[in-house]
Amino acid sequence: MSSITDKNHTKVILVGDGAVGSTFAYAMTLQGIANEIGIVDVVKDKTRGDALDLSDATPFSAPTHIYSTDYSDAKDADIVVITAGAPQKPGETRLDLVNKNLNILKSIVEPVVASGFNGIFLVVANPVDILTYGTWKLSGFPKERVIGSGTSLDTARLQKFVGQELNLDPRSIHGYMLGEHGDSEFAAWSHLTIGGLTMAEIQKTHPELTDEKLQEINDTVVHAAYEIINTKGATFYGVGTAAATICKALLRDENTILPLSVYMDGQYGVKDLYISSPTVVNRNGVRQILEVPLNDAEKEKMANSAAQLEKVAHDGFK
Ligand code: NAI
Ligand code: LAC
Repeated sequence: MSSITDKNHTKVILVGDGAVGSTFAYAMTLQGIANEIGIVDVVKDKTRGDALDLSDATPFSAPTHIYSTDYSDAKDADIVVITAGAPQKPGETRLDLVNKNLNILKSIVEPVVASGFNGIFLVVANPVDILTYGTWKLSGFPKERVIGSGTSLDTARLQKFVGQELNLDPRSIHGYMLGEHGDSEFAAWSHLTIGGLTMAEIQKTHPELTDEKLQEINDTVVHAAYEIINTKGATFYGVGTAAATICKALLRDENTILPLSVYMDGQYGVKDLYISSPTVVNRNGVRQILEVPLNDAEKEKMANSAAQLEKVAHDGFK
């Protein structure tokens, strides 16, 4: 049953049933976000086993049809989520993954498009900004329907660390990591608010939150993935939940503002690149990119982040 037009039935195809993909599917299942989740992977037994195992959770959450499938099932899906790709090894950056994961991406996008898929691509595999750009180019889809998870995970980390500093609920920390999902991302401190107070106002009553401390928090966010990879080998709970949250906003037509990797056509002085900005998303994908006014230091950081991506973004697509 097509879910593109039938708002009452939602279908997601997950490509890549590894640590991130299976965690994403688990988050989707626990929250009952989609009616159907089809799982595709080159390792078929894993998808069959995961579908059976995940289905055992549905009596505790919501009826979700979870099954192992192939690309042909993307024909009437609302969203195709791409988590297929090699993860970083200790010491590797996300950009180091570009060649091997672009090749994997090419083997995915073509059969998905050939299936007649007419929904939204959500790219999670790294380097996510580059692979989202690649998905847009390879699919020929409108840019509004090709989205990357971007700095949604990094922003959650920023909320967490600032919340820890002030003993506050991380959900009450309203701010963003912007730029690439990578080493050049940055906290847009000039826009972070807590209970309507700006960080500058907060610092008046929290002298311990010096600018040096804010820089330290920024750097802790930037290095968070390496810390996790060096200790447990990979990260997946944060991003799996972030990707499920993005799918919920898309499938339920929520018009939610999330920091996502979206196509820049001049915003922030960036052209022909995918990079993260606060973005309004709904059932049709990107509704509006919110180009937040950056101060001079933040403008420089955004330009630097774009430059890091520019070095590799168009490889193979020129
Ligand atoms: P993993 O190795 O556990 O899983 C990757 C899965 O992709 C495997 O099941 C593999 O069989 C599958 N796969 C490989 N080639 C395929 C193909 N051609 N078609 C279909 N499936 C294929 O890796 P993990 O930890 O799940 O990471 C996946 C990706 O997600 C990595 O690129 C990682 O860097 C990225 N990631 C992104 C984050 C973000 O915030 N954007 C956060 C964490 C990970
Ligand atoms: C992360 C890496 C793996 O941010 O992209 O967790």
